[in-house]
Amino acid sequence: MSIAIITGASGGIGSEFARQLSKLGLIDEFWFVARSENKMQALAEELGVKAKIIGADLTSEEGINKVREALETEKPEVKFLINASGFGNFGAFDEISEDEVVKMIDLNVKALVLLTHMTIPYMELGGRIIELGSGSCFTPLPYFNIYSSSKVFVLHYTKSLNHELKKYGVRATCFCPGWVETEFLGKSVANGNTHPKAMKPLLSCEKVVKKCIKASVKGKAMCVTNWYTKLQHTLFKLVPDCILTKLWLGMLVGERKSEKYKEEK
Ligand SMILES: NC(=O)c1ccc[n+]([C@@H]2O[C@H](COP(=O)([O-])OP(=O)(O)OC[C@H]3O[C@@H](n4cnc5c(N)ncnc54)[C@H](OP(=O)(O)O)[C@@H]3O)[C@@H](O)[C@H]2O)c1
Repeated sequence: MSIAIITGASGGIGSEFARQLSKLGLIDEFWFVARSENKMQALAEELGVKAKIIGADLTSEEGINKVREALETEKPEVKFLINASGFGNFGAFDEISEDEVVKMIDLNVKALVLLTHMTIPYMELGGRIIELGSGSCFTPLPYFNIYSSSKVFVLHYTKSLNHELKKYGVRATCFCPGWVETEFLGKSVANGNTHPKAMKPLLSCEKVVKKCIKASVKGKAMCVTNWYTKLQHTLFKLVPDCILTKLWLGMLVGERKSEKYKEEK
């Protein structure tokens, strides 16, 4: 019986992976992991698939252990692991609380690594891992510093892992879309912190996920979905960081200082 484990399945990119994988008919049972159990239950009903709903806050040890216990009890044959739980907060260094900073790292990095490590022993031959990176991982991004740094980690981690797993017939793909039409951007400014001027064009979730599944099946280490993210990736290799950072500040965010920082200076 082939299983797909999808974190972040309660919305956005994670739920779109579930939609598209369910149409391929390769998966016998889905394991959906996120905090909103009702949304995942509704998704399972919408898709008419067999699903195990794991309501878990993956920033907590308790949440991580729920997935660990399910793996140890059921010893599934995992065909796909998709780590799509994640969030990012825009803001100057002193506008984002330590708690939010730690949660971003815990979810985007620590949970992703732990879930990958604990799932690999259960992956079947031909199994595929998809880790959510971002176009943000190609350039240092002031006012998005923790998020973009967490995604750099994901990129290096996944590329290295893909190499290590090749000999076992398992492949890992780092998915680096540009800005996708989900609730992500709305949530990232929800705390009243820095608002990006323009994040257009927003990409269709359906299109980018389709491209990623193709890249994953082919065993690619990375999937960059659209022209401007491909350009970003190329520029990263050719242009010094300081110039790219200026482009980011000028085109997307603009220079800013928080009120507190201004007062202290
Ligand atoms: N949208 C973009 O523009 C974009 C671009 C590049 C990369 N990405 C990456 O793609 C991934 C998915 O983002 P999205 O666009 O689909 O955002 P989204 O619509 O906000 O979905 C985020 C998912 O993460 C889950 N999540 C958040 N906090 C969690 C926690 N503490 N424990 C467990 N699950 C948690 C959410 O579920 P619950 O709230 O139910 O827990 C939700 O299912 C993220 O890693 C993001 O960094 C997004």
